[in-house]
Amino acid sequence: MKNLSYAILALSAFFYTCKAQGTSVLSKEEQLYRPNYHFTPEKGWMNDPNGMFYLDGTYHLLFQHNPANSKWGTLHWGHATSEDLVKWENQPIAIYPDQMGYIFSGSAVVDKNNTSGLGDGKNVPIVAIFTYHDMDKEKANRIDVESQGMAYSLDKGKTWTKYSNNPVLKNPGIRDFRDPKIFWEKDSKQWIMVVAAQDRQHFYGSKNLKNWTFLSEFGKDFGGHGGVWECPDLFPIKVEGTNEEKWVLIVNINPGGPNGGSAAQYFVGDFDGKTFKMDDVFTKQLEKEKVVWLDWGRDNYASVSFDNVPENKRVIIGWMSNWDYSPDVPTEKWRGSSTIPREVTLKRSKDGYILKNIPVSQLKNYEGKTVKKEINLGSDKKLIGKGEIDLSKAVIDVDFKKMTKGVYTFTLKNSLGEQLIFGIDNNKRELFVDRTKSGKIDFKNSFADRISKAPLAKSYQNAKFKIVLDKTSIEIFFNNGEKVMTEIFFPNEGFSELSLSTDTTASTVNFNAHQLNIK
Ligand code: FRU
Repeated sequence: MKNLSYAILALSAFFYTCKAQGTSVLSKEEQLYRPNYHFTPEKGWMNDPNGMFYLDGTYHLLFQHNPANSKWGTLHWGHATSEDLVKWENQPIAIYPDQMGYIFSGSAVVDKNNTSGLGDGKNVPIVAIFTYHDMDKEKANRIDVESQGMAYSLDKGKTWTKYSNNPVLKNPGIRDFRDPKIFWEKDSKQWIMVVAAQDRQHFYGSKNLKNWTFLSEFGKDFGGHGGVWECPDLFPIKVEGTNEEKWVLIVNINPGGPNGGSAAQYFVGDFDGKTFKMDDVFTKQLEKEKVVWLDWGRDNYASVSFDNVPENKRVIIGWMSNWDYSPDVPTEKWRGSSTIPREVTLKRSKDGYILKNIPVSQLKNYEGKTVKKEINLGSDKKLIGKGEIDLSKAVIDVDFKKMTKGVYTFTLKNSLGEQLIFGIDNNKRELFVDRTKSGKIDFKNSFADRISKAPLAKSYQNAKFKIVLDKTSIEIFFNNGEKVMTEIFFPNEGFSELSLSTDTTASTVNFNAHQLNIK
C-alpha cells in the first residue's frame, strides 16, 4: 500500500515537472500510432481532404472533421496549413455545420479575378463549395438530402463566411448528390463543377460561382460501379514528353475497390467545356482492364487535387483509410490521417495511359542519414538492422537488376515477431502487401482478411521501388509511381528491421535507405 502511494506520488511529480517545463508526456497511443509526418487532426475524427488550395507561400488542407469525438458525425471542415506540403500545422476549424446540415466534402478555388463579386477590393476571395447534408431529411427518408453550399474567405483562408443565399445548387432529385470539385476552365471561360450523382458524374458551368447550369453527365456505362461515386476531380494535364493535353477524371468509389472497400479510379479523355469524352486509346484500355485504379492499396480514398499550385503542378492528397474499417482503427484521441501529397503526371504507353504518382519533391528536403548497400540477393538479406535507421520515418529506394521469375519479399519486423510483408511476385506478375501479421488486426475482420494485390502487365528484369514509411503506414511507389499501393498498419511496437528475401536465383539490388529528419 505504502509502495503504491510512493509510486503515485512519484508519477504525479513527474507529470507536474513535465507540465512546468512545457514538455508533454505522450500517451502510449500517441507514441505508437501518431504518424511522424503524415497529417492527422490534433483530436477527433477526420476523413476526406477538402478544399485544398495554395496561396502566397502556403498550402491549405481542409478536411472532413468531427471535433467532438473520434467517430464520424457532425461534419465540419477542419483546417491545416503547410509551407512545403510535408510539415502541417493544425489551424482552427474553418467551416461549421448549420441548420442546413453537416458540411460534407467539396473544394475551394482562389477567385483571382473576383468573378464571384465576393471580394472587397483588397483581398482575393477564396471560394469554397461544399455539400450540405441534411440529417433531418435523411432520417425522414427524403431524396433531397444533399445540396451544394458556398462559403468564402477574405483573409487567405483564416476565417470563412457562409454565402447569404445558400444553397448555390439545389438537389435535382438525386439522393446521392455531393462532393463538388470546382475549377476555372480557361477555354470556355467559366467555372466548372464536377459533382457525384449516384454512380455518375454531373458537370455544371458558372460564370460567377453562384449560378450553376447543368452541362452533361458521364459514367453510366464505364468503369467500376460497385458502389456510389464520390469525390470526383477533373483536370487538364500534359502527356509526358509531348505538348498534347488530356483531361483526367478521378472518381472515388465506395465500395467496389480492387482489394475491397473504398478506392479511386480514373478516366482519360477530353473535355470541351461541356462534355467529358473518353480518349479512344483509353476506351480500349478500359475494355481490357475494366477499371483503371489510381492506387491498388486499401488506404487511399477521396484523393483529389489542390487548386492554384505553383508551376502548374498537379498535386493530390488522399485520406489514408477505408470505409470498410475506418471507424474501428485502434486510435482514440484522433482517427484518420492523410497520404503523403503526391505529384501526378500522365504517361502514354503502348497499352494506354498511366497517371503516375510520386511523393512531392519537397519530401526529399528532409532526407538525412543514408544507408547504402549493393547486394547480390540469394537468400534472406538484412537490409536495415536495429538502430541503423528509424523505420518510422524513412524513404527507401530499391533498385532491382537482373530479376528472374520468382518472388521478392520485403519484411518489416519488430521484436514481438510482428511483420508487414510486401514485394513483387514476378511469376504471378503482381505486387502484394500482406498485413495479416502486422500487429493489431482484430478490431475489424475486413482489415486483414486478405493479402492486397496489384496486377502487373508483365514480369520485370529491372524494377524500382520507392517505399515511404511512417509509424502506421506504407506507401509503395513502383517504377516511378506507375503502380502505387498505400496501406496502414498498427504494430504493438514500432518496426525496427527490414529484410529482403527471394525464392529465386541471384539478382543485383541497389538499396538506399534515407532517414527523414522530421519533427
Ligand atoms: C467520402 C464521403 C463523401 C462525403 C463525406 C462525408 O468519404 O462519403 O462522399 O461527402 O465522405 O463525410
